[in-house]
Amino acid sequence: MTDRKRVFSGIQPTGNIHIGNYIGAGRNYVTLQEEYETIYCVVDLHAMTVPYDPKDLRAGKINVAKMLLAMGIDPERSLLYNQSDVPHHAELSWILGTITSMGQLERMTQYKEKSDKSGQNLGLFAYPVLMAADILVHRVHAVPVGEDQTQHLELTRDLAERFNHRFGELFPVPEAIVPEVGARIMSLTDPTSKMSKSDPSPRSRVHLTDTPDEIASKIRSAVTDAGAEVAYEPEQKPGISNLLEIFSAFDGRSIDELVAEYRDSGYGVFKSAVADAVIEGLRPLQEAYSALSDDEVHRVMEASAEKARDMASETMRLVREAVGLD
Ligand code: AMP
Ligand code: TRP
Repeated sequence: MTDRKRVFSGIQPTGNIHIGNYIGAGRNYVTLQEEYETIYCVVDLHAMTVPYDPKDLRAGKINVAKMLLAMGIDPERSLLYNQSDVPHHAELSWILGTITSMGQLERMTQYKEKSDKSGQNLGLFAYPVLMAADILVHRVHAVPVGEDQTQHLELTRDLAERFNHRFGELFPVPEAIVPEVGARIMSLTDPTSKMSKSDPSPRSRVHLTDTPDEIASKIRSAVTDAGAEVAYEPEQKPGISNLLEIFSAFDGRSIDELVAEYRDSGYGVFKSAVADAVIEGLRPLQEAYSALSDDEVHRVMEASAEKARDMASETMRLVREAVGLD
């Protein structure tokens, strides 16, 4: 074990990963490996909180893990495992549930949205408590996430503080790491709502496995705004501003530099340049993805799960002692 600070993040194995996941979270997972001890998790138990098909869950787990490896998660430096292979997450979730107030869970925006769409169940209601357990079971200091998860992270921080206050200092209070640009990539078909895996229209998002033709076509038909000027004004020009964020994420230049270059180019020329940047930016990742076998991914996941179980059982030993379960 090193004495570097620890990072944890989770991603659900539902649907196909899109550029919002990559820009908002995945890219950060990779760069954080330089500085932190990094732990990444495919959160299969979370994915069961909305209606799903077991076949898709099984396949989704391996695809998401493969995609994370293709992005540059390095098994020499990071752990990458399935949440359900480390039972301590669920165990700690029960204990944290006993100090979570119903009112706080009722206020969670994602619960309201998802339960309106898919119906209520206890798992969906308790989703943020399991997420807190994921983070706290590894006593991490920071959590890279997109903007949609900051409310869940606030709850995690509250629970850590409440636990420490009630039972003695045990958990660091984790910070969110949210990117300055790209923390909330919007849908290509409706730039006022978030790009989401569960949007029924696949044209609303670019999947990391889309072909160059699919990417070009989706970006060409992205909904843009009245006027003709390429400018970064998220309120007045949500469509163009979203494309600028995507462009900047893949191209590396800042939004200001891109605006200076494309201000008067017209939307058509601008969109082709965005598409080219996304296609080129995804190419290495797609090549790495197709070179990985399912077996390799399984091996990484199993070895990581074993280490994660050791780490988590040490936390649980301390938790059990603190709460009187020892
Ligand atoms: P999920 O798709 O819910 O499993 O999310 C995985 C990670 O991607 C989380 O850290 C989310 O905050 C992030 N994320 C999801 N959708 C977006 C988006 N549209 N823009 C930026 N980040 C996102
Ligand atoms: N709720 C997160 C999402 O939908 C996924 C997640 C589960 C997570 N556990 C986590 C993210 C712990 C960060 C840390 O995106």
